Amino acid sequence: MPSLFDPITLGAVEAPNRIIMAPLTRGRADRDAVPSDIMVEYYTQRASAGLIISEATGISREGLGWPFAPGLWTDAQVAAWKPVTDSVHTAGGRIVAQLWHMGRQGHSSVYETQPVSSSATATEGQAHTFEGKKDFEVARPLDTNEIPRLLADYELATKNALAAGFDGVQIHAANGYLIDQFLRDNANFRTDEYGGSIENRVRLLREVAERVISVAGADRVSVRLSPNGDSQGVDDSNPEALFTAAAKALSDLGIAFLELREPGPDGTFGKTDVPKLSPAIRKAFNGVLIVNSDYTTVEEAQAELDSGNADAITFGRTFIANPDLPERLRTGAPLAQDDAKTWYSQGPEGYIDYPALETVNA
Ligand SMILES: Cc1cc2nc3c(=O)[nH]c(=O)nc-3n(C[C@H](O)[C@H](O)[C@H](O)COP(=O)(O)O)c2cc1C
Repeated sequence: MPSLFDPITLGAVEAPNRIIMAPLTRGRADRDAVPSDIMVEYYTQRASAGLIISEATGISREGLGWPFAPGLWTDAQVAAWKPVTDSVHTAGGRIVAQLWHMGRQGHSSVYETQPVSSSATATEGQAHTFEGKKDFEVARPLDTNEIPRLLADYELATKNALAAGFDGVQIHAANGYLIDQFLRDNANFRTDEYGGSIENRVRLLREVAERVISVAGADRVSVRLSPNGDSQGVDDSNPEALFTAAAKALSDLGIAFLELREPGPDGTFGKTDVPKLSPAIRKAFNGVLIVNSDYTTVEEAQAELDSGNADAITFGRTFIANPDLPERLRTGAPLAQDDAKTWYSQGPEGYIDYPALETVNA
């Protein structure tokens, strides 16, 4: 079985190790979703990851409801991403952009329009906004004749990601956001060809993947799913049937890799008693499979590779606090702890001030 420190081919990307940085929203862009200078430093510090998956990045204003998250739909956003990708490459790293449409999980004060979704539903609880937290609103169902425009937004964002120097893109189809709102039958009550049967509910994911692939090529496209159970109120009556069908559709398209966010019953950032579906998805998906959630030691991560269940691991919070995570895992150095209070606090604190080992030991 491969070691965590062995290289792996992720489509067109050659990753020198299997310690992948998970997508992490950090809220350091400006109000127009333009990346800031400190994002260059942040991502460059983490260039030793086998691959960096960027924070979720809006494909359009309609799709980006998180305050101070970045986007990829304007020229100014593309221009500001370029120094990030250039610097990561100069430091020897690789980075793909996670493409995001949040659907009902944002607020009209950020979207500048009513949230859209598969159906007229609302997420329970409150959305992050520029003015603090506000109650989620009932979404407007996307009309069938708006889907071509949505696909065009994904196409533009993919073109922009490549123009900005990203090595590829990841379609965010996880965590209860728009594509997940189409996938699951407790959020999708549509009666057109995008609702009802599993085949119909997978249709939007497949069409988005096909469109993005038409721009970037399948070897530069990956997808993130969160199959096991509840994800921000989005759930399904038969997740195994749904997500193996989704994985099979993506397998047929030959994407570079599929990543699964799968919390367990003891998950420390989202938890669920629903069993992990990665073993079933492994059988349905003929390609590189990467898994995530709560891996913090070499032993836990290596055990996953040894079981044959996955080919690589994504690490989220451990990469926030340990910019040189692969080196720390390789040498058994202690891991620093992240601080949730600075996850989204905009400034440099808790963002670019976690030292690398040589600085710690100097
Ligand atoms: C601060 C923070 C921001 C996150 N932002 C994203 C995101 O932009 N896109 C995404 O797919 N998941 C996001 N996640 C989920 C992580 O990618 C990951 O699945 C989660 O942290 C569990 O992995 P871990 O146990 O290694 O931290 C975020 C998690 C945290 C803690």
